[in-house]
Amino acid sequence: MSSVSNEENNLSDWFTNSTVSYTRLRNISDWSHSLLKYQIPKSVRRKLLIILFILIVCFTLMIYSCVNCYVNCTSVCTFTKPSYILADGKNVSHNVNASYDQHMSRRLPQCIIIGVRKAGTRALLEYLNIHPDIVVTSKEQHFFNTDDRYSLGLEYYRNQMPLSFSHQITIEKTPAYFTDLMSQERIYRMNSSIRLLLIIRDPVVRLVSDYTQLMYGKKVKNKHVIALEDLIIDRNGDIDLDYKPIQRSIYYHYFINWLEFFRRDQIHIVDGDKLISNPYPEINEVESFLGLGHRISKDLFYYNASKGFFCVNLDKLDNPCLGESKGRPHPEVDPDILTELYDFYRPRNKMFFELANKSFDWP
Ligand code: A3P
Repeated sequence: MSSVSNEENNLSDWFTNSTVSYTRLRNISDWSHSLLKYQIPKSVRRKLLIILFILIVCFTLMIYSCVNCYVNCTSVCTFTKPSYILADGKNVSHNVNASYDQHMSRRLPQCIIIGVRKAGTRALLEYLNIHPDIVVTSKEQHFFNTDDRYSLGLEYYRNQMPLSFSHQITIEKTPAYFTDLMSQERIYRMNSSIRLLLIIRDPVVRLVSDYTQLMYGKKVKNKHVIALEDLIIDRNGDIDLDYKPIQRSIYYHYFINWLEFFRRDQIHIVDGDKLISNPYPEINEVESFLGLGHRISKDLFYYNASKGFFCVNLDKLDNPCLGESKGRPHPEVDPDILTELYDFYRPRNKMFFELANKSFDWP
């Protein structure tokens, strides 16, 4: 009994002499109360609360910016963005090189399909649109060739472009630029190192296609339709140079204007006839010209016998073939007139081949 009492006294002395002050604990609630009250001082608790609040605000902001990645997307969002579905339904998740930490915005085109009308500009644009690193404007903008639109300024033009990531190339197509006289300088002023795509085809076939389109427009409006022969031959029996479709097939006449502003290696010429008969090699060349990886594979193209043209084998497309206005049947043309037309264009084609440093298999 006395030894127990001695032990209690020693313990009590030790408590009293200790430099550390201890609180006597009575029950659990007192214990936790004491812990909060004495082990975490009020000032420290306040600081901890402020830090916690700041962390919550930062986390909320980060989640918000990642969810709205097109507004502001930083690298912290990378792990939350395994794939993107673009406005046109294009999924770029399979693009291993894509840097998803870049935000989407509307960018001025880095490439323009400048023409030529009825040479396959729509097919070219739609085929290129398959590429995950390309976004396109589906509507022709007529920005550089129309004073009213051009006066609206580049900011207006930029706003007509689709959303894109910084690694993607935006392509616009307006075939009327090729024959316009102002577009070259205006495009140059926007971007002197822009890349241009010009698609051309046999000038006589293109002329007939151009005529077919114009006559189709007249038919729709119940207007009088004139035979091609009557439009292309003037009163003296010569080729009528005033007829616009005739002019538009004189390629060198317009191409020379583009070479005044752009280096030849900035303009890639696509063979529209080959794009019809075998699109893959032509598209492959365009991918190289644009400095892109070859992502448009051969087996995406298949020949559709009822359409009479190649179509695209992609599940997401509502219509794998181009619309009815593309690939219309052409009228039969008098063989003598055809010979006359080919004779007319042959020397002019030669001038174009020299300028372009490239030749084509036209009769
Ligand atoms: P036609 O309708 O006279 O046959 P653009 O798009 O520049 O207006 O050119 C239209 C031409 O593109 C068509 O002229 C057609 O010959 C050609 N074309 C090229 N590939 C095509 C495709 N896959 N489907 C339909 N037309 C195509």
